[in-house]
Amino acid sequence: MQRFRRLRSSKNIRRMVRETRVDKSDLIYPIFVTEGENIKNPVDSMPGIFQYSIDRVDEILSEIDKSKISGLLIFGIPSHKDELATGAYDDNGITQRAVRFIKEKYPDILIVADVCLCEYTSHGHCGVVHNHKILNDETLPLLSKMAVSLAKSGADIIAPSDMMDGRVSAIREALDENGFIDTPIMSYSAKFASAYYSPFRDAAESAPCFGDRKTYQMDYANGKEAIREVIDDINEGADIVMVKPALAYLDIIKEASKLDYPLAVYNVSGEYSMVKAAAQNGWIDEKKVVLENLTAIKRAGADIIITYHALDAAKWLEEEE
Ligand code: PBG
Ligand code: ZN
Repeated sequence: MQRFRRLRSSKNIRRMVRETRVDKSDLIYPIFVTEGENIKNPVDSMPGIFQYSIDRVDEILSEIDKSKISGLLIFGIPSHKDELATGAYDDNGITQRAVRFIKEKYPDILIVADVCLCEYTSHGHCGVVHNHKILNDETLPLLSKMAVSLAKSGADIIAPSDMMDGRVSAIREALDENGFIDTPIMSYSAKFASAYYSPFRDAAESAPCFGDRKTYQMDYANGKEAIREVIDDINEGADIVMVKPALAYLDIIKEASKLDYPLAVYNVSGEYSMVKAAAQNGWIDEKKVVLENLTAIKRAGADIIITYHALDAAKWLEEEE
């Protein structure tokens, strides 16, 4: 008989043989910045998450700074939206101003800038729309302009989340031409058309006003295609690839990690909201469930985890040490 229980017999021995550790440096925290003044709007479907105006965002930045996590992922919410998402690549747009503000006040906080048009388009789709179709090639120059504008504002990493084909090479070329050869691209490579994004769409005010995102985001039934997407993004020049969402996609994470490329995983809004709702009902222990989830994501092969739990988890990890 193998006595597996020998190595489970005390806290110290369990700690010694633990295979997977989540570290604060694995974590990235998403934030939402909105136009206007003196705004701290709770997102109803995401308890603990708020939209901040630039003059109030310091509140969360100081927490991020103290937490020792790796950085933040920024989403801007413009007050003006139009067909061509002009606010996305306006050097004075909400996200650009927010990035400049953060860089000035906290030069050491790593800023990952999400690049996608859906928060800025009047129709809420991630690309240019014509006759109810989402056009691929016509979207690429707009994404490229957005990426360059955000890099100019001080974004440290560019993270395209739109799922247009060819966007990584288009963005890479545009960044290089504008002198940003050293700005990495973290590409949302295997991004599935998921029902787990709906709380985010409340937070970012980016729900599509017709149809869905299934003509550009992936079918959740497809694992092999996900790996083709990841490989293609690597070939196009992505520095970090991503799988999104996390918990229903641990098999994809595992496969993608075998490519030996830095791998980010997005533990998305719906995954967060389910945990928060059950915890608020007293049905689960929030701290324990979150640490279990994050460890599972890491065990599957993630190097970086983008999560709305990041600030809480950073505290809890410290308590566990
Ligand atoms: C925008 C974007 C989305 C998310 C990140 N960037 C939503 C979407 O594709 O509709 C989802 C994040 C989350 O659910 O937490 N393209
Ligand atoms: Zn989008």
